[in-house]
Amino acid sequence: MQKSILKDIIASNEEFILKQVKEPVERKGITLPGKLNKVVVFYGVRRSGKTFILFDLFQKNKERSLYIDFEDERLTGFQAKDFEKLREAFLELKPHLIGKETLFLLDEIQNVEGWERFCRRAVERENIKVFVSGSSSKMMPFEIHTELRGRSWSVEVLPFSFTEYMRVKGLDVKKETAFSSTKKAFAKKYFNDYVRWGGFPEVSFLDTELERTRLLKEYLGAMFFRDLVERYRITNIPLLEALLDKLFSSFSLRFSLTAFYKQYKDKFPFSKDLLFRYYKHFLDSMLIFEVRKFAESTYKRMRNPAKIYLVDNGLGKRVSSADSGRLLENLAFLELRRKRYEVFYFAEKRECDFIAKSEDNRLLPIQVCFEMTEENMDREISGLTEACHWVGVNEGIILTHDEERELSIDGISIKVYPLWKWCIA
Ligand SMILES: Nc1ncnc2c1ncn2[C@@H]1O[C@H](COP(=O)(O)OP(=O)(O)O)[C@@H](O)[C@H]1O
Ligand SMILES: [Mg+2]
Repeated sequence: MQKSILKDIIASNEEFILKQVKEPVERKGITLPGKLNKVVVFYGVRRSGKTFILFDLFQKNKERSLYIDFEDERLTGFQAKDFEKLREAFLELKPHLIGKETLFLLDEIQNVEGWERFCRRAVERENIKVFVSGSSSKMMPFEIHTELRGRSWSVEVLPFSFTEYMRVKGLDVKKETAFSSTKKAFAKKYFNDYVRWGGFPEVSFLDTELERTRLLKEYLGAMFFRDLVERYRITNIPLLEALLDKLFSSFSLRFSLTAFYKQYKDKFPFSKDLLFRYYKHFLDSMLIFEVRKFAESTYKRMRNPAKIYLVDNGLGKRVSSADSGRLLENLAFLELRRKRYEVFYFAEKRECDFIAKSEDNRLLPIQVCFEMTEENMDREISGLTEACHWVGVNEGIILTHDEERELSIDGISIKVYPLWKWCIA
């Protein structure tokens, strides 16, 4: 790798970020370590906004930042040993920064094998603040290289939250303490769009259904070929397609690989092993998440089928209008994740959609349903109260499309609350 090429890339990136990129929409919930010397790792599905978070950091620290994208084709062949050259190239371009604190923003860094060692040394010894991003589960906290254990600070990046989505639409909830009735009407309208189209940043900026449909299709295509077929050198395309179809229409449902195997094994040839591997790839590219059954033993948790949630509502394949409850549930799951809850489902005599465990280990049973009707009322409530008794708490929530009231049943206080309000709370 030649230093002169690195200098060109550094300079052209700087020019691009400062001149071409408009000020990014502010992301909520991204907390950075204060003075700790940690490598900050942004991880999440492609197109969720990681690069723009790095751009934002660059714009806010423009005198002393370096941005490099390791998917840049000019950098193919970049190896861990070239980091030193990169640092020199940067300081030769900006000699006044020698000895000062600088920021290194390294995008899609999982492409450079052995990146951890340089980053660790940089934060520990070189007065460099390091921010890296990656679109692979290799960057998730429990997968991160031992080299960085205790030295990294991981931040999950999901597509826009409803609050961020509203910011795109010009409604800043942070600034509004009370909603006027017009604002409320707007918020609800936007919420309906958000439930349907999800929060991929680029999609959020579009206004017509046609454009949104097209872009989401393009995303799916890119994720399918780049993040699955190419990355994992997939050969059984029919299997991958069938699995994708099934997964993306099974959001908020229990999903069983054994059932899938039985259903498809006569349609085209594949082994169970291959199926398990492909399924794992979906998890690894962070397109889907698994939620396990609430149980004391790991054995019980793993033996029961997981529920599947998508990283974005826009990717859901809808079959009927009866899916709106499942879309709400998918959204509620994502919001719980943003709020850093660990999520389980409850299924004993009765069922409850979620048992959410907060970072300080408090448990909160939650049902999600579009609306409470004569038919479902009993089931929703008794599932929730059973879950509350089971885990030993006396409060639960039912999230709905737009209903709000409070109930008290069997010693359990139940808050029925609109999901849109809960998302911006
Ligand atoms: N905070 C943001 N403000 C405005 N637009 C954004 C923001 N984040 C992402 N976008 C838009 O979404 C696109 C994809 O985001 P990007 O940061 O490239 O995702 P990732 O790096 O995770 O693949 C960007 O090109 C930009 O158009
Ligand atoms: Mg990126």
